[in-house]
Amino acid sequence: MANRFDPSGPLSGSLRPPPDKSVSHRAALIAAMGEGETTIEGYLDAADTRSTLEAVESLGAEVIRPASDPRSGLDSGRIGVRGVGLRGAAAAAIDVGNAGTLLRLLPGWLAGQETGTWSLDGDDSIRRRPVDRIAAPLRLMGARLECRDDRLPPLQIEATPLKGIEYEMPVASAQVKSCLLFAGLLAAGETRIVEPLPSRDHSERMLAAAGAEIEHGKGAITVRPATRLEPGEIAIPADFSSAAFFVVAALLVPGSDVSLMGVGLNPTRTGLLSILARMGAEIEVAPGGERGGETSGRLRIRPSQLHGTDIGGADIPLAIDELPLVALAACFAEGETTIRDAAELRRKESDRIETVGEALRALGASVETSEDGMRIEGMGGLRGGAIDSHGDHRIAMLGAIAGLASSEGVEVAGMDAAAVSYPGFEADLASLAGR
Ligand code: S3P
Repeated sequence: MANRFDPSGPLSGSLRPPPDKSVSHRAALIAAMGEGETTIEGYLDAADTRSTLEAVESLGAEVIRPASDPRSGLDSGRIGVRGVGLRGAAAAAIDVGNAGTLLRLLPGWLAGQETGTWSLDGDDSIRRRPVDRIAAPLRLMGARLECRDDRLPPLQIEATPLKGIEYEMPVASAQVKSCLLFAGLLAAGETRIVEPLPSRDHSERMLAAAGAEIEHGKGAITVRPATRLEPGEIAIPADFSSAAFFVVAALLVPGSDVSLMGVGLNPTRTGLLSILARMGAEIEVAPGGERGGETSGRLRIRPSQLHGTDIGGADIPLAIDELPLVALAACFAEGETTIRDAAELRRKESDRIETVGEALRALGASVETSEDGMRIEGMGGLRGGAIDSHGDHRIAMLGAIAGLASSEGVEVAGMDAAAVSYPGFEADLASLAGR
C-alpha cells in the first residue's frame, strides 16, 4: 500500500525530533562495555536502535526499561544499561536487523575479547552492505573474522588478542573509525587512525567522556588500551538527520515558519546547514547547552529562494545522510547543482545515487546520476508522482517531503521503512502541516 502526501499549506510550529540514531547506537554499545549501570537519557525508540539493545542483551548486558511505562519503556526518555565490562562479552548469534552502524561497530569490540565466537547477520539490505572495510583493518590488528565472499555478511568473529596499528582509512567512514577505536581499547599498544576527511566524531567524544584515552589532532585519532570504561550518564540530543527533513520541508513550502528544538549540532553532522547556506538559505541556529561533549540547540527555518551549488570533498562526510535532501532542495533551486565524491552513497541502506535519481525523476525532476554523484537541473519546483522507498527509511521520508512541496502530491510505496529511524515521522509532519 502506498501513502499519499498532498501539497501542503505553510508548515508552522515547533517540535523536538527524535533522539539521535548514531549517538543512541554508541550509547548502548559503550554502556555495555562499561562498568556498572549507565543511565541513557533519551534513547531512540526505533527499529535500528532496538536491534542494538537486543544485541547488547545477548552479549550479557542488562537493559533496564522503566517498569512504569506500559509500552517499550523507551519513550519515557530514560533507560539503564548494566554493562559487562570491556572484556566480558558473552558468545552470541546477533541479528542486526537493518542496522549498518551496529554491523560495523560491534565487531571492533568483539574481535578483541579473551574468549568466544560471534556471528552477525541481518535483513536483505544488510546482506548487501560491505564489511570488508572493517574486516581488513581488524585483520591487520590480528583479528579472526570470516565473511561471505570475503566482503559481505554474515560475519563470523572469533576472540583473539589484538595489537595496535596505524591505519590510513581509504574512505572517510565514521563506522570504520569507530570500529577500530573500540578494537584499539582492547589491543596491545596504541592504535592510530588517519582519516582522509573528518567524519562524525560521536564515538571519540563519548569514549573520552567514559574515561578512555583518546587524542584527536591533524586528521588522526589515537586511542590507548583501556581496562575499564565508566560512562555514568549519557544524554542524547535530537537527531540532526531526522530534523533535516523538516529543515528542507520548511525551506520549500511557501509561508512556513518551523522551529526544531534540542537538535544535535555537532559540527561533524551539520554539513547540510553550510550547503544550504551556500544555496541561499537563511536558517537561524541558536546553540543551547553541551552535554557529554555534544552540543544541541534550536533551528528556525523559513523559506528562502535557493540557487544551485557544487558539492564535493569535505562536504560529503559531514552531510552524507542528508545528500538525498540536498538533491531534493536542488530541484527547487535556480540553476544547476552537482554532487561529486559521494560514491559512498551507493553503499547505504539502498544505492542512494540510483534510488534518489529514480525518485526525483519520477516526480518530474531533471537528474543525471554518475558513479560518484549526480547533477540536478533546478526547475524551481517539482510536479509530483509516485515513488518507491526501496525499503530505505531516508528515501521514504524524502518522498513525503517532496509531496508536501510538490504541485500534485507524491505517493510513497514502502513508507513503513521510516520506522527504522523515525517511527513518529508522519505524525510529526502532520502536526507541522496542521493536519
Ligand atoms: C554512521 C556513519 C555514516 C552514516 C550512517 C551512520 C555512524 O556511515 O551514513 O548512517 O553512525 O557512524 P559511514 O561513516 O560509514 O559513511
